[in-house]
Amino acid sequence: MDKQSPFLQHLQRFADLMRKAHPHLLAHSLAAARLVERIIPFLPWSGDISTPVLLAGAFLHDIGKVSWPKELFTKYPLEPADWSLVHAHPVAGVNLVRETWPDVPGQVVEIILQHHERPGGGGYPRGREPGYPALVVAACEVVDAMTHDRGYRGCWRCERRWRR
Ligand SMILES: [Fe+2]
Ligand SMILES: [Fe+2]
Repeated sequence: MDKQSPFLQHLQRFADLMRKAHPHLLAHSLAAARLVERIIPFLPWSGDISTPVLLAGAFLHDIGKVSWPKELFTKYPLEPADWSLVHAHPVAGVNLVRETWPDVPGQVVEIILQHHERPGGGGYPRGREPGYPALVVAACEVVDAMTHDRGYRGCWRCERRWRR
């Protein structure tokens, strides 16, 4: 077995957790990270975040869903109790990552916490303005969520809503 850096070992461990939680979760997390990687050259921004840290944040953005019951990943419509789990997953993710990866980069934590925050304070969990890295990840993860059928709803692309 190849010797991995501690950084990659943590990502591998989280990938295993996501795969066990639900295959959709791992697929979505990988897709979000790949989309971020593809748009990096086109971003009108050169922040102080490294590419590996930005990609790790994208890959781990939904890590707080690993403790969800399996059926919740494909459930529709959601009930009030389900929505509380949905709204809690950014903070749950931060807590999980911090517990098991003490020296996790702070920017990874910020992306996990802020990926459902929206400009103007319309998101959750805190209703605060997100940082630019979290906005980039949010855009990419939403695109993946809208363009892939994860079981509980058809995808927009499949329904040809993007076509004229
Ligand atoms: Fe999320
Ligand atoms: Fe997501």
